[in-house]
Amino acid sequence: MKVLGVSGSPIKNSNTDRALKIVLAATGAKKTEFIKLSDHTVAPCDACLGCVETNRCVIKDDGVALAEKAYKADALIIAGYTPYSSLDSRTKAFMERLYPLRHRHGLMAGKPGAAIITSAVPDSTPGMPPAAKNGIQAIQNFMMEEGMNFVGAVSILGNVPCIKCGDEGQCRMSGLKMIHGPDATMASVGINALENDPATVALLQRLGEDLADNFYGR
Ligand SMILES: Cc1cc2nc3c(=O)[nH]c(=O)nc-3n(C[C@H](O)[C@H](O)[C@H](O)COP(=O)(O)O)c2cc1C
Repeated sequence: MKVLGVSGSPIKNSNTDRALKIVLAATGAKKTEFIKLSDHTVAPCDACLGCVETNRCVIKDDGVALAEKAYKADALIIAGYTPYSSLDSRTKAFMERLYPLRHRHGLMAGKPGAAIITSAVPDSTPGMPPAAKNGIQAIQNFMMEEGMNFVGAVSILGNVPCIKCGDEGQCRMSGLKMIHGPDATMASVGINALENDPATVALLQRLGEDLADNFYGR
């Protein structure tokens, strides 16, 4: 069994990356592969339909080899984050480039899949869009439309990019204050590392195990 995990997070060793690695390990698969999309060049789909006869994209970039990896994998985990409350563009472009696998044969159909989303806005924050929900829905929609077996998703609370800015929350555009209120500071919000939340780690491990229960032939 081989499981492919694809992270759209460009941040080095991000919560998104580490969450994905926990799920990959928890599948117990003999072979797992972790792909960081920011190490690759993947343009969005051109909608040219040049892939209809061949199930292969005509765009000459890394999207072709990544689609091949997705096709050969027995299960696929997609991990993204949520700039402006929707799925990040690298992850979206990667999913679009799996479109060639669709035509006539449904080459991803029946394959188990799972989603991980990291967002800075906690669920149900008043006045803020449901970023995590939107991100998960985008990945689930892709898997559903390709006939995959969507096994489940975990959302992770990540970090507002403003924590790295050094402005200590004085900025009128502070994401910290936008999300957590006018009195929020870096000290009051803190830096989220998923490993500090055992419940989240348990959910990630469970997702890997659930994925394994759905491998072909089991
Ligand atoms: C340009 C940009 C816009 C962002 N907008 C949002 C947003 O609207 N909602 C949200 O939940 N997170 C937003 N984020 C935060 C990311 O979701 C956050 O970086 C992600 O949780 C990754 O966190 P991590 O570094 O802890 O893995 C944004 C990040 C960037 C870089």
